[in-house]
Amino acid sequence: MEVVSPHDIPVTFEDIGGLDDIIEELRESIIYPLTMPHLYASHSSLLTAPSGVLLYGPPGCGKTMLAKALARESGACFINLHISTLTEKWYGDSNKLVAAVFSLARKLQPSIVFIDEIDAVLGQRRSGEHEASGMVKAEFMTHWDGLASSTASGGSQRICILGATNRIQDIDEAILRRMPKKFPISLPNAGQRRQIFKLTLRDTKLDRSKLHDGSSAFSLDTLVRLSAGMSGSDIKEACRDAAMVPVREHIKAAKASGQSMRGIRSEDVRGLQTDDFFGRKQLRKIEPEDDEPRTPESGKTEEVEEFEDADGEVAAQA
Ligand SMILES: Nc1ncnc2c1ncn2[C@@H]1O[C@H](COP(=O)(O)OP(=O)(O)O)[C@@H](O)[C@H]1O
Ligand SMILES: [Mg+2]
Repeated sequence: MEVVSPHDIPVTFEDIGGLDDIIEELRESIIYPLTMPHLYASHSSLLTAPSGVLLYGPPGCGKTMLAKALARESGACFINLHISTLTEKWYGDSNKLVAAVFSLARKLQPSIVFIDEIDAVLGQRRSGEHEASGMVKAEFMTHWDGLASSTASGGSQRICILGATNRIQDIDEAILRRMPKKFPISLPNAGQRRQIFKLTLRDTKLDRSKLHDGSSAFSLDTLVRLSAGMSGSDIKEACRDAAMVPVREHIKAAKASGQSMRGIRSEDVRGLQTDDFFGRKQLRKIEPEDDEPRTPESGKTEEVEEFEDADGEVAAQA
């Protein structure tokens, strides 16, 4: 368990691509009621922050990121509850830990208790599950319900349990009921992928020139099209891989021309091109039928043929 100061979190809502609608809803349903109770709770008891919010969807689409940004921008105390603290300890102690978490959250409120991969702690009762683990769950739910009941008695609790999961189907009915606000974070569509590419490449040098066939050397449209079905995290990795290509190329060229490594300046490295992504350059070199004119150093083709020959020999020997 760790208590995080909002100022120490590097992620902001601006770093998250394509989830503006969800961010706005999170602001309305969690941040404002938690941090400006005078505006909400005094108006109607219906307007208090929900005691539970769940972010769910496939991995790598920004759930953890959203939680972090929420912590930073809410200014609420953020308690990051690691699953391991609840499950790896002696079971007897776990109950006390659960009580301690809620007591801490109450003392530090307004606070958000974040449980990442919540299915792992509060998942469905599986057959053969340790009995004590069920007790931890029960203890957790009792405290959780306590949040709502003390609100009813006048002293409003400003504590929100925020969960994230890749497997909503593994979560207990009872838990789901306690998280009335559920936000699906699904794989990004084309518009969202465009946003994520823009954000991820915001400080990367891009090749703004035109190729000989008139198309742009760097085309965001093409990348958006090629990345269909990818998650935000896949896109980030693809950008990281692609960004390496011009640097690697530059170092190789410098070595070949006998230039010392010290003399290499980052300004001299060319900008990023569409072909640096998804290994497209290699593909083009291997497939001669591609419309790109063959470059003089298309030695790659020979290498492939050699490789195939060697393979053939091995096959013949076997
Ligand atoms: N919508 C997004 N905008 C920008 N980056 C993203 C987005 N979604 C995912 N990423 C990148 O992928 C990484 C993993 O995302 P994360 O929030 O941990 O996914 P999840 O918790 O949904 O599995 C992030 O650190 C970020 O670099
Ligand atoms: Mg996550």
